[in-house]
Amino acid sequence: MSDCTPPDADSLNAIKALVGDKGWKPAAAAPGYFEDPRGRFAGRGCLVVSPDTTSEVAAIVRICSGARIGIVPISGRTGVVAGQLSIDSDHALVLSLERMNRIRSVSADDSVMVAEAGCILENVHAEAQRHGLQFPLSMASKGSCCIGGNLATNAGGIQVVRHGNARDLCLGIEAVLPNGEILNELSPLRKNNTGYDLRNLLIGCEGTLGIITAATLVLKPIDPETATAYCAIPSPGAALRLFRHLRMELGETLSALELMSGFGLDLVLSHFPALGRPFDGRHDWYLLVEAAGPEGIGARLEDALGNALERDLLANAVLARSEAQRKTLWELRENTPEANRLSGAICSSDTSVPVSRVEEFIHRTVQSVANVHPGLRINSYGHVGDGNIHHNVFPPEGHGKAQFVSNHPGIIEDVRMAINDATHACGGSISAEHGIGRLKVKDLEIYAGKARLDAIRRIKAALDPHNIMNPGALID
Ligand code: LAC
Ligand code: ZN
Repeated sequence: MSDCTPPDADSLNAIKALVGDKGWKPAAAAPGYFEDPRGRFAGRGCLVVSPDTTSEVAAIVRICSGARIGIVPISGRTGVVAGQLSIDSDHALVLSLERMNRIRSVSADDSVMVAEAGCILENVHAEAQRHGLQFPLSMASKGSCCIGGNLATNAGGIQVVRHGNARDLCLGIEAVLPNGEILNELSPLRKNNTGYDLRNLLIGCEGTLGIITAATLVLKPIDPETATAYCAIPSPGAALRLFRHLRMELGETLSALELMSGFGLDLVLSHFPALGRPFDGRHDWYLLVEAAGPEGIGARLEDALGNALERDLLANAVLARSEAQRKTLWELRENTPEANRLSGAICSSDTSVPVSRVEEFIHRTVQSVANVHPGLRINSYGHVGDGNIHHNVFPPEGHGKAQFVSNHPGIIEDVRMAINDATHACGGSISAEHGIGRLKVKDLEIYAGKARLDAIRRIKAALDPHNIMNPGALID
């Protein structure tokens, strides 16, 4: 629980005057800013402000620091762990980076783009492409999530197996610290050993140590050819064997490996029937594979899959023959979270384990969830190439979500903890790519270990002694 000081009218008026009429809305007039994409939390706040420049952000933070007003920084509002929602206090100011959406510069020689925090990821992709380059962070929410949130949560997504997480794709940041000072570290240096790595401390801090206002993003050459295939496999273990095989054959060009279950594909098709089954028959597991590289990569992927078929590493496979087919295969995967939601999932997890333990992790999760309540159904899917499997859990067949949850008090929490326990038993992390937010504060306390928690608390107290930056997120 975290409740900051009730804001005083003078401070709020000073903030409104600073940003002008275009830059603020009363909380009551901006309901969209308080919605949880998964409908579990209701956000609260005293005012929504959207500054236009880094100096405005700094001036707001200075006022809030003086008056001890809490600030919840937000950008695309797509977070699923309530990092962007103050849920237990009306007192915090919601600071939206949405107007800070300029691409400040692109340098082909340095292979970087300097983008403001409110830039939508898809717009960053398009701008990179205009320069013959790519920014390879990608995820289903790319049309609405923003660079600021991507960095604040160190987002992962579908190409981590090749390109890494948001942190690996950022060379520098500009940020406003809790005392209102501007940390200007946007330089595109690739070597810079001058003490503590503040950029990587701020990335992933979920707004608890400062507000990232702009970033120097790593751009890479566009791959001339991209090839995508959908494979039927008997088990998650088979996915790992196929992964090993493809890595040997395709090396660095292997860019995505997304596991789906037969149950998950059925759910997607029940809500998005136009997508159609990629091949006849129903299989227990599927693997979406993508390779991107020089011309001819499609033929290489086809050969590699042919070899895999001969070696019994897969049961069937289809290669996208057109951009439209490729899009359809990806939609089967990217509509999975929405299909889960529409099908009444009571829990959606985001944890990771070492890749070598993915199969054990899925077995353990199935077992621990069955121990909570037999009959619960699980859709396990996700980024198998980096060990980040999402589990969505549903009431037994024939039971609606609302009725089932009200008949089984505490079940959502029990399922969540069962998945955490299975994760921990496999040497994993209770947050893979979505962050801790407010949803997992207790989980972090349980699983982080004393040394890590102590260090987090000391860093937080040193940089934000009045606990004004995203109070209630990450730690209590
Ligand atoms: C996904 C989101 C839930 O991978 O992380 O679909
Ligand atoms: Zn994911």
